[in-house]
Amino acid sequence: MVLWYVIGFILVLIASCEFYALKTGVPTVTSNPSARRKMIELLKEEAALRTRERPFTILDLGSGTGKLALEIGRALPSARVVGLEISLVPYLLSLLRQRIWGLFWATANVAYKREDFWPYDLSGVDAVVIFINGNIRERMAAKLKAALPSGALVISNETHLPDWTPLATHTVGLLKLKVVVYRQA
Ligand SMILES: C[S@@+](CC[C@H](N)C(=O)[O-])C[C@H]1O[C@@H](n2cnc3c(N)ncnc32)[C@H](O)[C@@H]1O
Repeated sequence: MVLWYVIGFILVLIASCEFYALKTGVPTVTSNPSARRKMIELLKEEAALRTRERPFTILDLGSGTGKLALEIGRALPSARVVGLEISLVPYLLSLLRQRIWGLFWATANVAYKREDFWPYDLSGVDAVVIFINGNIRERMAAKLKAALPSGALVISNETHLPDWTPLATHTVGLLKLKVVVYRQA
């Protein structure tokens, strides 16, 4: 009997993830480790160049189960990292992950919000990381162009943004994944 409840519960969780993947056009997949390492290295280089008083603010647009945001927060303890995630189950897993990581490291500089990133205000943001797919790349390119402040860095795992000119494209790992870097004019 209990087993059926467990199976039913797992099916509901899977259905919830599928629902949001269909609704948004982007499934929850964590960036590959070599891509994550490269993104973090680039963010550290960027943070080192900043002279502003306020914390370096980084947004993970679609933070999935939260691993990348936490790794960024750990690598850059003086930065403020915000992960936005619309899908309920990955969002809850992020909170759980943060609780567990919090037993070992300070994670207070990372916050997860269950929010849609399309209407989100990007005006105070210094850098965004994205791992999206072709379904929404045009819309994302336009959103970032319209909403990011001048000088903000965009680091994209795999997806090229139309109408943006890359500063650099890095090929990483055995799978030769692309990490593409842009800067808002
Ligand atoms: C491929 S995952 C990337 C996870 C993480 N950023 C990483 O690189 O490991 C993309 C996430 O974006 C989320 N997403 C898609 N559209 C969204 C929206 N409009 N608002 C917030 N999150 C969204 C999806 O639910 C999915 O979990």
